[in-house]
Amino acid sequence: MVIGKLMLGTAVFWLAACSPGPKSSHGFRLPDGDPEAGKAAFTALGCVNCHAVEGAELDEPEERGIDIRLGGKVHRVRTYGELVTAVVHPSHDISEDYPSEVVSSDGESLMVNMNGSMTVQQLIDVVAFLQGAYREYLPNDYDPYFP
Ligand code: HEC
Repeated sequence: MVIGKLMLGTAVFWLAACSPGPKSSHGFRLPDGDPEAGKAAFTALGCVNCHAVEGAELDEPEERGIDIRLGGKVHRVRTYGELVTAVVHPSHDISEDYPSEVVSSDGESLMVNMNGSMTVQQLIDVVAFLQGAYREYLPNDYDPYFP
């Protein structure tokens, strides 16, 4: 009897864990973006003031205060959802590739918030542009000229 209740409880728990709650990203999908337009938006929005993008030729500032390189070979390619979140809600998941004092202050990302000025179309295109810049790093894939 007790075991039966425990099993039922476990089953209810797993069912609840599987069904998407109101805050789930399940079903989230933006339209396909245009990487070329995204590249232009990346410069127009001033993303280049803090970021270079692996493999992309951009009009870059003379000097960057913050210099965070995006793209290139990573152990796991950034997902679409992670990239959208990184742009509109940077403090949600602060990059662990840099010392925290370089990228954040009091737990908040040092990336500027552009949600009031960036258009949805620019967001869609910028994410399409960045997605093409990440490549997966596989074991024995060491290339000294393209680290
Ligand atoms: C004032 C400097 C600054 C500007 C301008 C800026 N960022 Fe950032 N960005 C950062 C910092 C600092 C981080 C690392 C902390 C974090 O993860 O939020 C970061 C992180 C990111 C990441 C996540 C990197 C990773 O690998 O986890 C993405 C993607 C990104 N920025 C895209 C953009 C885009 C697109 C724009 C323009 C719309 C932009 N950034 C403008 C400072 C900036």
